[in-house]
Amino acid sequence: MMKAGVFRALLVTFITCLLLSCSEKQSVDTVAVAKAEVPIDGAELYKQYCIACHAEGPGHPGTMRLGIRLGEDKAVLTKRTDLQAVYVKTIVRQGILLMPPFRPSEISDAELEALAEYLSTITKT
Ligand code: HEC
Repeated sequence: MMKAGVFRALLVTFITCLLLSCSEKQSVDTVAVAKAEVPIDGAELYKQYCIACHAEGPGHPGTMRLGIRLGEDKAVLTKRTDLQAVYVKTIVRQGILLMPPFRPSEISDAELEALAEYLSTITKT
């Protein structure tokens, strides 16, 4: 009786693990496919990776630090008129002071290209 209960519990655990690992794998595949199909959009990438720290207003460490270090007119990245693509790419890969670097496994070279272009061409409009 006791043994059967233990066995059943093990079986249930085993099946649950199987199911979980299957569904996890499937969702990873779906993400990979979705990523490959969506064109790279600098503005979207900015929202995804940068805006948490660089949005306008208080509570955003990037905006706050840049306001202190360079002045309020240079605090919000999307309002800057002096950002060059090559500078943005260097900062994203290497980090700067409180900003952590992003590896190519997080932001690919192609994505970084789009991101840098977004931040540097936005200045010309
Ligand atoms: C975890 C918070 C954080 C994230 C996420 C983040 N940054 Fe930063 N970033 C900072 C901070 C803080 C600074 C200011 C560093 C300092 O001066 O101390 C900064 C500075 C910069 C600068 C330098 C600006 C200048 O004039 O020197 C650039 C460019 C920049 N970030 C771009 C980006 C981009 C593009 C992304 C998204 C891929 C990003 N950051 C994501 C925190 C962040």
